[in-house]
Amino acid sequence: MVKEKSAIFIIFGGSGDLAHRKLYPSLFRLYKSGFLKDHFAVIGTARRPWSDDYFRETVITSLKDYFDDDEDVMKEFAKHFYYQSHDVNDSEHYIALKNLAAKLDDQFDCGHNRVYYMAIAPRFFGTVAEHINSEGLKTSGYNRLVIEKPFGRDLDSACELNGNISKAFPEDDIYRIDHYLGKEMVQDIPHIRANNPTFEKAMNNKYVSNIQVTLAESLGVEDRGGYYETAGVLRDMVQNHIMQIIGAVASDEPDATDAKVIHQHKCDLFGSLKELTPEQVDKSFVRGQYDTDKLGEKKSYREEDKVASDSEIETFTAGKIEFESKRWSGVPFYVRSGKRLPDKQSRVDIVFNDKVADLGIRANTVVTLLIEQIDGQSILINGINYKDSGQDFIKFPEEAEFNHAREAYESLIIDILSGNRVHFTLWDELRSTWKYIDTIRERWDSQTPEFPNYISGTMGPDAAEMLLERDGNTWIWD
Ligand SMILES: NC(=O)c1ccc[n+]([C@@H]2O[C@H](COP(=O)([O-])OP(=O)(O)OC[C@H]3O[C@@H](n4cnc5c(N)ncnc54)[C@H](OP(=O)(O)O)[C@@H]3O)[C@@H](O)[C@H]2O)c1
Repeated sequence: MVKEKSAIFIIFGGSGDLAHRKLYPSLFRLYKSGFLKDHFAVIGTARRPWSDDYFRETVITSLKDYFDDDEDVMKEFAKHFYYQSHDVNDSEHYIALKNLAAKLDDQFDCGHNRVYYMAIAPRFFGTVAEHINSEGLKTSGYNRLVIEKPFGRDLDSACELNGNISKAFPEDDIYRIDHYLGKEMVQDIPHIRANNPTFEKAMNNKYVSNIQVTLAESLGVEDRGGYYETAGVLRDMVQNHIMQIIGAVASDEPDATDAKVIHQHKCDLFGSLKELTPEQVDKSFVRGQYDTDKLGEKKSYREEDKVASDSEIETFTAGKIEFESKRWSGVPFYVRSGKRLPDKQSRVDIVFNDKVADLGIRANTVVTLLIEQIDGQSILINGINYKDSGQDFIKFPEEAEFNHAREAYESLIIDILSGNRVHFTLWDELRSTWKYIDTIRERWDSQTPEFPNYISGTMGPDAAEMLLERDGNTWIWD
């Protein structure tokens, strides 16, 4: 049964791309399903001097890209939207924001609850959080701060950012978004493990040969060259999304329901990441940058808009991650992510060894969890590949019907409104993953890569294949 929620959303960066492409459509879905009904309002803030009416028009225009509902329904929804021109550095603007929020709280009876959503550039996250606190925006209801990625660009900057927001908000009120954690297939992984005792019994170094996580994109950087030049795939995909998927696949106690227990197990897992020496980085991690395609029709990365013609930013990486834990030591986790690969695929392949036959499972079974195949479609995914198992190795848990109808952002917003932090990242997890990623980054930054080194539309540089071949393994998705 859907229970209506009440809150005022204050969206910093309310005129931006993320807000229009992801947040407003998700809020509209929640409106249509009854999670949001009468007791909510959205204040969009940004510098440009928009009126409420103009803001509502932009919201409706963006909804039309995703929904074919009657415009009257969209207009009713948009009546909950207000705009406040605002510069993040101007204290006066926060007072105006506070007054508007208080007025709307009375008007819509929102229970004094506030969701402060940072849909702005990361360099503003700390400033906004501090002003929300110092200018007294917090209320007697709940006050939840939502932070978009990227959370820092290395351990030092992440520590600094965390220090700034922690001065203004307690950890329990901070919701750090990793939208992969909003994908239902990722959320279902612990359920699949917990509901399939034989599978779970096999999920350790006695029976698993290796685990492969692939997040592949067929597109290039498109119009995000400027951002990408500051990031690269290691920071953009591995530190956050790939690590969090590994957290869902490999943490202890997948049946835990308490958010604190779940997070503790994830922290323990990331705390057991096997440290890399610079020489091990050379052996265990491969980087690449896309060239034009075979026909010479597509731009190479260095030819993309806002990209340096001698850029050393990687658009592909493959690596071997290992853990020093009782459950996982000795099992390589091969990870891979890149742009301009042949297809869009997000998947986990769990490769069992021959000992798994002791559990009544055919030797060398591969279980594949497809997280997403086609951009924007969340309805997929059959999830389990029974390949070679020849028996009912894994059943879907009944409570998860696997229709995957909910968008990641929609599901995450429900969690925020419900105070459920299970699908958000905690600071301790980020600290461990940044530390690990920094070692790789530092080694790479001390060397000059030979870029470009893979043709658009191929599976990345050959070294990515050799990484597994050296261990006697191969990529399952190839
Ligand atoms: N777009 C995505 O798909 C995506 C995906 C994942 C994460 N993110 C993250 O989400 C955040 C927003 O990204 P975006 O793509 O939506 O960026 P964007 O389209 O450039 O939007 C930035 C917003 O910030 C506002 N802004 C800029 N300077 C400001 C200032 N001094 N004071 C107040 N408002 C200011 C802009 O409006 P004015 O110019 O009018 O001030 C605009 O509304 C970033 O942290 C990004 O990393 C985005």
